[in-house]
Amino acid sequence: MAELTVTDLHLTYGDNPILKGVSLTLDRGEVVSLLGPSGSGKTTLLRAVAGLEVPHQGSIRIGDKVVFDGAAGNDIPAEKRNLGLVFQSYALWPHKTVFDNVAYGLKLRKISGAEIQTRVTKALEQLSLGHLAARFPHQLSGGQQQRVALARALVYNPPVILLDEPLSNLDAKLREEARAWLRELIVTMQLSALCVTHDQGEALAMSDRILLLNNGRIEQQGTPEQMYSEPGTLFTADFMGSNNRLNGRVTEVGGGHALIEGEGWRLWGAAKASAKAGQDGTAMIRLERIRLAAGPGDNRLQAALTTSMYLGDKWEHLFHLGGARLRAYGDRPLGRGNHWLEVPREALWIF
Ligand SMILES: Nc1ncnc2c1ncn2[C@@H]1O[C@H](COP(=O)(O)OP(=O)(O)OP(=O)(O)O)[C@@H](O)[C@H]1O
Ligand SMILES: [Mg+2]
Repeated sequence: MAELTVTDLHLTYGDNPILKGVSLTLDRGEVVSLLGPSGSGKTTLLRAVAGLEVPHQGSIRIGDKVVFDGAAGNDIPAEKRNLGLVFQSYALWPHKTVFDNVAYGLKLRKISGAEIQTRVTKALEQLSLGHLAARFPHQLSGGQQQRVALARALVYNPPVILLDEPLSNLDAKLREEARAWLRELIVTMQLSALCVTHDQGEALAMSDRILLLNNGRIEQQGTPEQMYSEPGTLFTADFMGSNNRLNGRVTEVGGGHALIEGEGWRLWGAAKASAKAGQDGTAMIRLERIRLAAGPGDNRLQAALTTSMYLGDKWEHLFHLGGARLRAYGDRPLGRGNHWLEVPREALWIF
């Protein structure tokens, strides 16, 4: 049974529609990420599930309990939904110790002192925070504060935890370590988590499934591999990776393939549903799929090198071709002038 089921949720601020019919399920032990550009409605959806915003249509079920039903006028308040919440800002209480931050919610629920002691100690240990129990938030690093916020959510043993950009306050390196650690924690504790992020790398790494939101609607959902390798639309393709994009005219479509032509280039690729012969189209290929080639050949194009960047494990080369810019990885520096680039047909999507 799904731990969380959202059906056809609509939510409006004033007369501004924000969620326009969103449905999703979250199964036991699953991590689902809500991904999407700024303003697409991710936080709003999470807050609606938490009971902090009131939708005007649709329903929300946690386990087998209906917590919101627009048609029936059902709306169970946030504190009775028994969810673990971790917000974008950790919002720790500055004048309480780590222990008291984690214990606070249990005290409000009138749980006995002995049980609070046991549960808080266990939550702190699970998050490797035991030795920091007596400290105050300002005496902790960003990563430690983030763990306290998580401990505070987990201490209730909630069936579902909701995380809004849980790693956004951490710097890049710490973030990468924290996402591995968080994923491991969720999986080993068999938690079910709905996690908001606008970072596609984080969503790919953290999730069992990704829901991509576009302006209040689900653009596409699937496993990380499906979202990355089988995008249905230009929006999904563009959002899920680092891409090269060429605008041109589609001149042939058939048998799942399409030919697209621009100034000084013509390329075959996989035809997506939106590609129509005789119309303008967009060709897209992931940066890691385009290759430097020694000379002319099938599905190759010639472009002039603008500059190169050393990335540590590889080089990233920037080219221009007419008005378009192209980027490709390589394992060595390149000389000035024109170079051949191979665009494998199966890796080029034509929209
Ligand atoms: N309380 C509010 N009143 C009116 N409009 C709001 C309110 N909260 C959010 N909005 C609007 O709703 C839309 C969705 O906001 P939301 O916070 O859900 O976006 P988000 O996807 O979480 O973006 P981000 O990645 O920037 O956090 C935005 O256009 C925002 O301006
Ligand atoms: Mg947000």
